[in-house]
Amino acid sequence: MSSSEGLLTVVGGRLAFDGHDLAQLTDGRPTPFFVFSERQLRANIAAVVSAFGRRHAATSVYYASKACSNLWFLGEVLRGGIDIEVNAGGELRKALQVGFAPRQIIFNGVAKTRAEIDHAVRLGVHALMVDSLFELERIEQVAAAAGVVARIAPRVDVYVPTKTHPGLETAHGGKAGIDRDDAVPAFRRAAESPYLEPVGLHVHIGSQITSVDPYRQAVEAALSLVDEVEGAAGVKLEFLDVGGGFAVPYREAPVVCHPADYFCSRLAMDDYAEAICGELERRRPDLRLAIEPGRSIAGTTAVLVSRVENEKTRGVRDARGRRVSDDRWITVDAGFNTLLEHFSYAWYYRAVVADRAGEPHDTEFRLAGPLCDGGDVYVGDGGSAYRTLPAATTVGDVVAFLDVGAYALETMHPYNARPRAAAYAVLGDGRLELVRRADDDDDLVAHDVVPAGAPST
Ligand SMILES: Cc1ncc(COP(=O)(O)O)c(C=O)c1O
Repeated sequence: MSSSEGLLTVVGGRLAFDGHDLAQLTDGRPTPFFVFSERQLRANIAAVVSAFGRRHAATSVYYASKACSNLWFLGEVLRGGIDIEVNAGGELRKALQVGFAPRQIIFNGVAKTRAEIDHAVRLGVHALMVDSLFELERIEQVAAAAGVVARIAPRVDVYVPTKTHPGLETAHGGKAGIDRDDAVPAFRRAAESPYLEPVGLHVHIGSQITSVDPYRQAVEAALSLVDEVEGAAGVKLEFLDVGGGFAVPYREAPVVCHPADYFCSRLAMDDYAEAICGELERRRPDLRLAIEPGRSIAGTTAVLVSRVENEKTRGVRDARGRRVSDDRWITVDAGFNTLLEHFSYAWYYRAVVADRAGEPHDTEFRLAGPLCDGGDVYVGDGGSAYRTLPAATTVGDVVAFLDVGAYALETMHPYNARPRAAAYAVLGDGRLELVRRADDDDDLVAHDVVPAGAPST
């Protein structure tokens, strides 16, 4: 997967993204804000469709909408010709709002409510993934009450280790899915019910997976399980869903990536497709393949534009309190309120000083966000505490964070009563348009309720 680097150019010493000078965009636009690229989004969709479609024609691509469910973005995904995966009632409503047909939607989720299930089964979504034996019963009850047959695909933990962030590993004893030992009973139970139609098996193994080996293992294990459940439960499955997880190269890739560095990836979509489709074509060419890419579609489509608002030099002291060196700190106006995962997962996003992009990024800085929270400090380059930026970096400069299209807009929050950021998109014809407005002062208090009779201030 190429990073958003393909759309980044340096013109006159300044950084441009998809043809727009990022520092210049801050004239008249309050920072921080996101800039998305329709061109990159289209290219990412095309890369997935082509890589898998060439190797296994019966492939359905369901974009994992939790990566970015902005309505403009979802509309482009729809126009890009692929289908959608949702994880909650809200994502389901957004998918319908932009025009996805129910048969284009699969419904995942590890805690679906009765109301969510009811909505999905009455709509007739393509399939509901089943996270537990309990949930199987719940779906059956809801489908029976609605008088419909629910198409279901149990999600089974095929117990494959991945070398990704521990919070992103989902099929190795984590919280998602049904234990492998319970898979056959689940399919048997479903096959016996007049209100359930078992149509698939789901085995998503995690996110940001920088090796193809886990996919090979997962597909092998899944195909053995398909044989087993088809034999034991007397069903014929339509599809195997291997989920998403294809990595984005967040770190500039050296010639060889260290296997434990999950920010570094040299894999292309063809590599994943080869690993997944190879075994499938050999053993079960009749089976439809479903994939649920999120990060690999959204990640490289956006940059975040922020401004340096503070700077200082602070002494570094040894155990006896003696000042042994100095750290230069700069504070930008985007923190974990805007890029949650820089904190929650210590996620690494490359940073470039947009108005000094032509200057060598060779001087060590500590890079912090604006929140009144000691944890709001960006992880450094190469596992260090420091970012290398131009020596002259100072207040007023514009810092761009790269590859922030996935899981960022979705997870923004107004901590410190800071407005959630706006987002713009560079459309296919080069125009820049607002696709999400920033919170205003009213938004920041819109959900607060002062009970009647409370003392007035
Ligand atoms: C069930 C499921 N499908 C798809 C995805 C998307 O993964 P990614 O964004 O890494 O492609 C996830 C995220 O972990 C997931 O849990």
